[in-house]
Amino acid sequence: MCSVMKLENPYKILCVCLGNICRSPTAEVVLRTIANQQGLNVVVDSAGTSNYHPNKAPDSRSQKCALQYGYDLSALRARQIQLRDFCEFDLILAMDKENLSDILALQEQAKQRYGNEEKARVALMSEYDEQYPKQAVPDPYYGEQKDFERVIHQCESSSLAWVNYLKKQLI
Ligand code: 4NP
Repeated sequence: MCSVMKLENPYKILCVCLGNICRSPTAEVVLRTIANQQGLNVVVDSAGTSNYHPNKAPDSRSQKCALQYGYDLSALRARQIQLRDFCEFDLILAMDKENLSDILALQEQAKQRYGNEEKARVALMSEYDEQYPKQAVPDPYYGEQKDFERVIHQCESSSLAWVNYLKKQLI
């Protein structure tokens, strides 16, 4: 039986891609599911570096593919990352290297605006993933079914790696 590990305050993680309609909503639900299965007390959200799709539901291809693997994305709505997110979240996970550099630039602005309140660690989704070491989660938007499946597989593998890492750090 898996013991439930509780932190006083949940550790807050924000998954970020470009549009917040394909990769980061998938990462949000997969990471939340795996963390919950492992009894890790986390809050997981997602956002986009762009504001291309404000308040939109995840891409129907992402939703359909995720559902085939048991993940329901239907309740999520897209939003753009805000400077306050760097004060609210402990960890911000970039899906690819362009997202990472955009997020790091925003982090500088958040530091200037909020000083010590800015606390987020910024890293790649694949940071500790031995199967996809420091690889981007490829953007499936102009792709086909296999590209959406790749997003699921990579999100599962990287989420498991983050949960294993966080269990050692936080418990
Ligand atoms: P995401 O995919 O960053 O994984 O949500 C994309 C969604 C929309 C666009 C690009 C990528 N777009 O150009 O609208």
